Amino acid sequence: MTANGRAAVADSDILLTGATGFVGAFLLRRLLESSAVRVHCLVRSMTEPEAMERIRSAQIAYGLDLPDQARVVPVAGDLAAAGLGLSPERFDDLARSVTTVIHAAARVNLVMPARMLEAANVAGTREILRLARQGGAAVRFISTSEVFGRARGVVDEDTPALDCYEDTSGYGRTKRAAESLVLQARRDGLPAAVLRLDRVAGDSRTGACQSDGDDLWLLVRSALSTGVLPDALVNLTPVDFAADAVLALTAAPAGSEPIAHICHPWPTRMTDVATALNHVGWPVRVLPATEWAMTLQRLGEQPDCDPMVRLLPIIADRVMGGRPLFRAPRTTATLRRLGLHHPPVDVPLLGKYVRHLTATGFLPATYHRG
Ligand SMILES: NC(=O)c1ccc[n+]([C@@H]2O[C@H](COP(=O)([O-])OP(=O)(O)OC[C@H]3O[C@@H](n4cnc5c(N)ncnc54)[C@H](OP(=O)(O)O)[C@@H]3O)[C@@H](O)[C@H]2O)c1
Repeated sequence: MTANGRAAVADSDILLTGATGFVGAFLLRRLLESSAVRVHCLVRSMTEPEAMERIRSAQIAYGLDLPDQARVVPVAGDLAAAGLGLSPERFDDLARSVTTVIHAAARVNLVMPARMLEAANVAGTREILRLARQGGAAVRFISTSEVFGRARGVVDEDTPALDCYEDTSGYGRTKRAAESLVLQARRDGLPAAVLRLDRVAGDSRTGACQSDGDDLWLLVRSALSTGVLPDALVNLTPVDFAADAVLALTAAPAGSEPIAHICHPWPTRMTDVATALNHVGWPVRVLPATEWAMTLQRLGEQPDCDPMVRLLPIIADRVMGGRPLFRAPRTTATLRRLGLHHPPVDVPLLGKYVRHLTATGFLPATYHRG
């Protein structure tokens, strides 16, 4: 670890996928900040200059910068294509160069059927593992709590993500299939591990959130027309902390745990979200979940109702209902030992998120009840 508690990844060449996405942009920034590694970034694009431009745009979009661009090696490719969309020579060259792969890219879409996501999420992971095996690189596969679908009760690092959890999204199923490939590769001797994230929230310092929001913020946006939010607990891990945690666990010895869970030990109450909204002038109230559902039903029956209101129970179900309690006892203890402590996701931080989402236009600047 460095003095500021960040991961010190071995000074070598790393392959990072997903650098143009939300989590990947922060992984890249933190990698460059905390180590001397050269980071090869596989990016969907036709040319390397275009790939570099897309990496830079993602950094700008999330209020970051590239501290040392010379250490970023853009690789124009495509996870969904055979050989990662690279020529056989480029594939071999990359396999020879990198000692660690952080595989964060995926098609993240909760409504698409699995068959539309398989090429990138499953076949792409198979290709990443082939590349890693060829050069003997360690693999850290970024996965998701979604692999558990609607499993009941508490799930932790030791709970198997079984195929019997039928009731998950196509996305969850493809990530589970990719996890199986990674864990099989580990059993076959590759130093590979799965790092599962729960819901990732914005940057704890700047408030920068995922550009198109997520289901929590869609629910919040809906409160503009309904005036109400359901009482619930939501687990939010700020993305800068999630990136630091991934890098700290990546730097851990190769024989470390096969599966880590990264989530906040203290879930956030929806009442705190409402308070943050109240502070910017939205008179939003929190209702007990059943009362909230009845209010929505009443609103949905009105002839001039915003069609979005009729979809809200589906979104709310994703945010608060029917999911297992995702826990990370072992990983949280490890991270604490490494000096990493989750930043509180409290009203001031939620206020930063609200202000960021207002500045980007995702949330409207003025409240006008529909
Ligand atoms: N955000 C969360 O709350 C959360 C929670 C749990 C787990 N995760 C995991 O974290 C990882 C990153 O998620 P995210 O939220 O950052 O998603 P995101 O913003 O949608 O980013 C996804 C990244 O994957 C890349 N990608 C998709 N298909 C690709 C392909 N065919 N070839 C190459 N790259 C491809 C995207 O590239 P383009 O720019 O070209 O589309 C983008 O860089 C995923 O593995 C996800 O399962 C995220």
